[in-house]
Amino acid sequence: MKPKFVVTAGPTREFIDPVRFLSNPSTGRMGFAVARAAAEAGYRTTLVAGPSTLRTPPGVERVDVLSALDMLDASLAAVSAAGGPCIFVSAAAVCDWRPATCSRQKTKKGSSSSKTLRLVRNPDILKTLSLARSRGELRQLKLVGFAAETGEPSAEAFRKCREKGLEFTVANDVTLKGAGFAVNTNKASIAFADGTLEEMGIMSKLELARRIVALALQ
Ligand code: CTP
Repeated sequence: MKPKFVVTAGPTREFIDPVRFLSNPSTGRMGFAVARAAAEAGYRTTLVAGPSTLRTPPGVERVDVLSALDMLDASLAAVSAAGGPCIFVSAAAVCDWRPATCSRQKTKKGSSSSKTLRLVRNPDILKTLSLARSRGELRQLKLVGFAAETGEPSAEAFRKCREKGLEFTVANDVTLKGAGFAVNTNKASIAFADGTLEEMGIMSKLELARRIVALALQ
């Protein structure tokens, strides 16, 4: 049976009140490119997308979400529905924290000159899936992660491979020209679970996505 791809993309939004949220500048381009590449190669593909203005690639089933908790639920549902081998590619820039409470009403600034926002940790989606696999659920699941770093990315990429049970981590230094948020190119290195590192040249996100799909299928 051919594997199904489940890809996450974009940022998450963690609401403080109905009109304010915490987020990050991810546009979703890398994840959308991976979903496009997987569908083009003939694989069933579900894209779990945080808020993004990008168009759904042809042949891709899209599930829109807002928060990290929503993204976790949608990812678990999509992976569980695979009914056989599944490759989960986690390209989303998931917020690690969310406000401890979300006010139902718009909060008023009042007369205070400072304010403290209490945050709680969001679940790690990759780790949650990896733990489910170790418990014997989702046995036919392969995990691929990303590591967006602001400095030497490979050590962090190997750590993420180990801690999250990944086949490989696609790492890039988001401060480099031609890599990171809101550009069409990327310059990545791929850290494999066996300790090898493949340095990629600068290439379009779609070319990198095709490479990721091919490597995940090996
Ligand atoms: N990720 C995830 N769930 C989270 C946070 C991150 O599944 N709550 C995934 C990302 O989609 C990415 C990988 O984990 O594939 C690494 O994310 P990154 O933000 O680079 O690192 P963190 O795991 O958050 O670790 P740190 O904050 O230490 O860099």
